[in-house]
Amino acid sequence: MNVLILGSGGREHALAWKLSQSSLCNRLYIAPGNAGTAMCGDNVAILPGDHEAIGRFVLSHDVDMVVVGPEEPLVKGLGDHFRSDEALSRVLFFGPGASGARLEGSKAFAKAFMEAYGIPTPAYRSFSCEQLEDGLAHIDSLGPPYVLKADGLAAGKGVVICDDRQEARDTLKEMLCEGLFGQASKTVVIEEFLRGRELSAFVITDGKHYVTLPQAKDYKRIGEKDTGANTGGMGTVSPVPFASKGLLEKIERRIIQPTISGLQAEGIPYCGFIFFGLMVKDNDPYVIEYNVRMGDPEAEVILPRISSDLLTLMEAACKGDLEGYHLDISRQYALCVMLASGGYPGEYDKGFEISTVDESPGRKLFYAGVKRTDNKLVTDGGRVMAVTAMDKDLEKARVIAYDMARQIDFKGKYYRRDIGKDLLTYI
Ligand code: AMP
Ligand code: GLY
Repeated sequence: MNVLILGSGGREHALAWKLSQSSLCNRLYIAPGNAGTAMCGDNVAILPGDHEAIGRFVLSHDVDMVVVGPEEPLVKGLGDHFRSDEALSRVLFFGPGASGARLEGSKAFAKAFMEAYGIPTPAYRSFSCEQLEDGLAHIDSLGPPYVLKADGLAAGKGVVICDDRQEARDTLKEMLCEGLFGQASKTVVIEEFLRGRELSAFVITDGKHYVTLPQAKDYKRIGEKDTGANTGGMGTVSPVPFASKGLLEKIERRIIQPTISGLQAEGIPYCGFIFFGLMVKDNDPYVIEYNVRMGDPEAEVILPRISSDLLTLMEAACKGDLEGYHLDISRQYALCVMLASGGYPGEYDKGFEISTVDESPGRKLFYAGVKRTDNKLVTDGGRVMAVTAMDKDLEKARVIAYDMARQIDFKGKYYRRDIGKDLLTYI
């Protein structure tokens, strides 16, 4: 099979690395890719948003399957572009159409969906600019902290948590009526704040059946002990020691199963990943967000733990053949430390030369913001490189990952030193 992956981050390097190992994979293309994906296949200079150019490339290069990394092309209907075109509809497309992608593309839709199908999620109300006064009164009726979520995609920045009521009132007004997040915050969801432990769960589904992937814990804040600004993710661990069998069963029964049956009941076809962003409170799971893609850097710990062939699994999902599908998962821990450019998630400089370390089984580098110029690797983004170590012992995986993180060098390198540390107490 010839495969095209869309995207250019560490997640796409992990996908390219895993799919390139498949005996089914003939040619592998990544658009636009990065210096890491270029080691797994051929990078193609097309942006994931250019639906026409993607379609032309797929037909001219006999691509059999398209795998979409980021959410934006899905929310913007790339899947529908493929499924509605006679020639392109013969190509397997891994990712939902716009109707399914609304689970991530519209928080108000996702909340209403969960309400309709009895899926546990924090209480909420949604407001438009015309309903500003109602929204302000709603804030006044709540206690802090206040959780304000832009309805649409806002480059990962659309969730604002305020400790102060006046700040929450001002933010709501800016979001709804002053374009704080542009179109994305024309509608705002105000949600009950839940204090608990975060956990990410994942499935691959064909819309009727699903295969459960390993769960992961993400460290989202820039600073140690979960302080400072939110980022795309500064590290991950899989499996998560506090995710007991009982908790995983609750997640499956209360969240995963009703989500899949809800999609069917709504008549929404769905082939692809579903990423359940969960908050666990008193050992009960609640959905705080759906994503319609793999996580980044969750992919960098989950994909290395999948022993089975991922391309065979994705093909089965595209063909609606997931019933009874069995997946082999390594029992080892995978721990990923993200190396970032100094200043991220604020402003940072790029173009610094990177010196890397040797890889071996259990020691893997996934490139994110890395490009190759004049045969040198240079920094090209805020999150630069994901360092993943695997070991049956979590503490040992931490030692290996941090050993690599220390040795890799580029100007301004920053990383959190506490990835996975909190989890050692659960072992
Ligand atoms: P993101 O959606 O990735 O921008 O992240 C938003 C972050 O806000 C999540 O990772 C949680 O830590 C936090 N969050 C979102 N919703 C809630 C909620 N209802 N209660 C508590 N924390 C939340
Ligand atoms: N790491 C969180 C995400 O991919 O959304």
